Amino acid sequence: MSSVAVRYLGHSAFSIEHEATKLLIDPFLTGNPKAAVSAADVEADVILVTHGHADHFGDAAEIASRTGAPIAAVVEIAGELTDHLGPEHPIFDPNLGGTVNFDWGWAQWVPAWHTSTTPSGVVNTPAGIVLNIAGKTIYHLGDTALFSDLALPGQRHSIDLAMIPIGGHYTMDRHDAVRAAALIGAPQVVPIHYNTFPAIETDAAAFAEAVAAETSAIATILDPGESLTL
Ligand code: NI
Ligand code: MN
Repeated sequence: MSSVAVRYLGHSAFSIEHEATKLLIDPFLTGNPKAAVSAADVEADVILVTHGHADHFGDAAEIASRTGAPIAAVVEIAGELTDHLGPEHPIFDPNLGGTVNFDWGWAQWVPAWHTSTTPSGVVNTPAGIVLNIAGKTIYHLGDTALFSDLALPGQRHSIDLAMIPIGGHYTMDRHDAVRAAALIGAPQVVPIHYNTFPAIETDAAAFAEAVAAETSAIATILDPGESLTL
């Protein structure tokens, strides 16, 4: 069995690696005080973006330009990226509910309750991303409040891992995140989107304790740069 390595790069950014394939999600590295790698050094075969806010869109365009990696993002963001990277650069433009198939697996864009505008002012609908690589299903919630439809992806797929924002203020807080973990039903969750800035400081250990006490999941706290294996 070949495994999937999930490396936390800080804030909401991950590198997900299986054999020679590297997926990059929400690569906010430049200006991220918790970034585990620099935008100039990170590798990517594809870049997935949940929404246009600078702390998610991040260095996506620069990394795509340097590496040639395709980007997949909601259609309004994809349009802006085409303007930026040129018509030859491979860009996928799903909308909510849409699935993009890749040679390594697939990714589906699902609803998130949030707002979103790109740094240049393009309004876009924020999303979470459910992806499957090497038979493992991962749900990155993006930025969202708690809402009951977080349970829906788990009704269709067996979610192996969920990345859940816990920092509050811009997203659900750690208390609502425990309820989100229960709704999603994944055996393992990783807290994201906390302690990057003062407004989103929270107690990740307390979140993990509550997840263990109140749900059937286990929360794994990853420091930026750390990985877990699925
Ligand atoms: Ni956001
Ligand atoms: Mn954010």
